[in-house]
Amino acid sequence: MWHFHKWFERHSLILVVGILLVVSIGGLVQITPLFFIESTIEQVKGVRPYTPLELKGREIYIREGCYVCHSQMVRPLRDEVERYGHYSLAAESMYDHPFQWGSKRTGPDLARVGGRYSDEWHRAHLVDPRSMVPESVMPPYAFLEKKELATGDIANHLRVNATLKVPYTQAQIDNAAADLRAQADPDSDAASAFEERYPTVKPRAYDGDPKRLTEMDALIAYLQMLGAGVDFSTYQADAPENRR
Ligand code: HEC
Repeated sequence: MWHFHKWFERHSLILVVGILLVVSIGGLVQITPLFFIESTIEQVKGVRPYTPLELKGREIYIREGCYVCHSQMVRPLRDEVERYGHYSLAAESMYDHPFQWGSKRTGPDLARVGGRYSDEWHRAHLVDPRSMVPESVMPPYAFLEKKELATGDIANHLRVNATLKVPYTQAQIDNAAADLRAQADPDSDAASAFEERYPTVKPRAYDGDPKRLTEMDALIAYLQMLGAGVDFSTYQADAPENRR
């Protein structure tokens, strides 16, 4: 049998073909099963699809290039976990199309910024970062407060996400435009219908003014939900009660 080996080693082209064959068998064994299992991401309790307003805020985040300075990925390194909290789980970005992990870390990681500051802090910080953090190099985004939020195509955004397996219901898609307004206007008639469709979200005036729907509302709504879903005081990676 070993004389085959000599034959392989003396003909470099045959050796290359042999190597490719062996490597592709290894590759197929690893990759093929991934196409047949339902999901490679474990489901974690507390992770939910974005509301229409948060989805809009996420679009503004992408449009303004916030990812150029901010990552959304707490790596399992001691300094990051001590600073930001539990490292990011795959499940936490399962509804992100596209994900916002990023890699440029000029500013702090934002994966767990939700709930860390008040809405008013975010508003003041986005209008003038140096009013809150004097040494900040973050640019101001005061215009977001003046720009009315364009809502026209939001139902289609939910629909596209639904085709990518984000579990939006038909009612959530049909009422997307109304829900978008209702989330930032807590005293409106539509707010209770919104709460029925998104039971874990409480409507509030994110930019302080419930009568106007601005890009500031959307961006703050998005920032305030980042990493706020999973309860890490009880989360254990292997416990079945964390699964949905
Ligand atoms: C030029 C780089 C840069 C860009 C672009 C940028 N930021 Fe920042 N950001 C920073 C820096 C630096 C800090 C830390 C100082 C501070 O808090 O202002 C920061 C802080 C923050 C904080 C506070 C985080 C914390 O944990 O204290 C938030 C929230 C934030 N940025 C959101 C945004 C959003 C939203 C955008 C896009 C609209 C954005 N940033 C764009 C650099 C940037």
